[in-house]
Parts: sequence; C-alpha cells; structure tokens
Amino acid sequence: MPSRKSQTLIQLKNTRTEAISELFSIADSYGALPGIESKKDLTMLGRGKTGALLFFEASTRTRMSFETACARLGVHALRLDGKSGTSLEKGESLEDTVLNVAAMKPAFLVIRSSDELDFEKMSQQVPMPIINAGWGLRGHPTQALLDAYTMRKNFQKCEGQKVLIVGDIRHSRVAASHFELAKILGYEIGLCAPAEFLPEQTTAKVFSNLQDGLSWATVAMTLRVQLERHTSSISLTSYRETYGFTSENLKALSLGALIMHPGPINHGTELDSEVLRDPRCRVLDQVSNGVLIRQALIHKICEQEMA
Ligand code: CP
Repeated sequence: MPSRKSQTLIQLKNTRTEAISELFSIADSYGALPGIESKKDLTMLGRGKTGALLFFEASTRTRMSFETACARLGVHALRLDGKSGTSLEKGESLEDTVLNVAAMKPAFLVIRSSDELDFEKMSQQVPMPIINAGWGLRGHPTQALLDAYTMRKNFQKCEGQKVLIVGDIRHSRVAASHFELAKILGYEIGLCAPAEFLPEQTTAKVFSNLQDGLSWATVAMTLRVQLERHTSSISLTSYRETYGFTSENLKALSLGALIMHPGPINHGTELDSEVLRDPRCRVLDQVSNGVLIRQALIHKICEQEMA
C-alpha cells in the first residue's frame, strides 16, 4: 500500500499514466453523481479531516475549486489568503508559516506561492502530501490535469491531440506543466507567440502565424498576457489582431476543435468576450472540471489515510 506522501503533487514529470487514468476515473465518478443525492456518501470520506489551503498569491478558480472539493468530500478547509491578517505581516517567513500550519496536522497542504518558497524542500519537512496549486513559473499541475481531463471528456482520449498554446508561454506555469503532461499522455504541443513570449529553448513546433497554428490544432489554448512581467511595451491592439482569439481569427480553427483558457481572461486582448459563446469554447467547463480533478486528488489522500 503506497504511503499518503505518495499523493504529493508538485510536478507532473514523474507521474505514471496509470495514476492519471485513475484520477480521471475518480473525477468521472464524481461528475456522474447527481448533486445533493450523493452528498451523504461523499462526506463520509473526508469527515473529521482538515486540509490547509495556503494561498500566498491571488487566486479565484484554484482556491475556490479546492474549497468546493473539500466541502463536497466533508473535509474542513483551513484557508490562508495572502499576507493580510496573518503573521506574514509581522515578517514571518513563508517557510515558517507552512511548518506551523503543518504542525496543526491537516491531512494535506495545498500551496500557491511564488518561486520564493521551495515546495520540494517543504515536502521533505512535513509529513503530509503537498499539492502544488501554482508555484512561481515552475508549474501548475492541477490546471494542466483539468485541461487534459477536459480534452479527454470531449475526445475520449488525450493521445494524439494537437494542442496549440498561444500567448505568454515563457511566463506561464500552466504551459510548463503541459510540457510535462503532454509527454505522459501523448499529446503534441504547438506554440504561437511574439518572440519575447516564447520559451528561450523549446523542442515544440513553433508557428509564426496564428492561422497556420489554428489550422493544425485540435485544441486552441490561449494564455493571459502577463503585462506585469514585461519590460518592453507591447501594443495590445496589435497583439489582439495578430494573436487574439477573435471570431475572425478563429475561423481557421476546425469546427470540432476546442477553445480553452485557464483564466483569468483579459477580455479584448487574448480573447474576445463573444468567443465565450462559441460552441467550441470550454472555458467554464474547465472550471467545473477543475473541481472534479481536485476532488479526485483529495479523494485519493483521504482513501490513503483510511487504509
Ligand atoms: N487558472 C487559475 O489558476 O486561475 P486562478 O489564478 O484564479 O486560480
């Protein structure tokens, strides 16, 4: 029987295909349950347990979907949101904060932080699993998993899909996790972005023209333009024309393809609001699927605790 620490999820690169298949199956089973009817069974699994959600950086989707997942499983979520009102304001370090919360013995820690905190080092110092909810530029594995789960729901499998990632790839932890997950699940990644947004090195296919990339893709994923990370000023109008997911540009994408964005969206920059009503768009499905994937991860931890 694997230890509960085996449920630690900091990076995806060493994850087995079978573990992901199992996770997706658990997510399927939760997705198939008819709401309130199944609540009494679900709450048994996490009853009496706490899970600490430590968000040292801002979040809406990830934080609230972990919280929803905890509520659905009966796990009591302990939340820390940013510095305000915590001893971080008095100069306590992120590391000490994590160690002190871990000393309260939650069943797991979900952490979002900048690169300042070393998740791998923290994992050596605490007895419970850590789930990476967004770590600097290094990765956002649960986002990549929920994206892949969304692809699988629509295409029955991820293998062989052609995922075009458009936008600020160099500064995207979502893209970083997809580079790892694509190798495990067998989907191909193509990139399209201005030079300053592309990774310095990549083995992925790079499209200099959005239309060519969209014609190739079965999934078109655009990322938030992280203006705060760029020193050179880019013209948002010209970015939208060249790389934006506008109804006009998306004519090059096949009718059976999917449009995705991890959120939050800069409307009218990387994606036009009307694209959210395109039948190919899965942006809000991604969010719903995010709850199921996080429920599946917490399910595995609770199950291991009971073993
Ligand atoms: N996709 C994502 O991580 O969104 P949040 O920053 O709102 O959690």
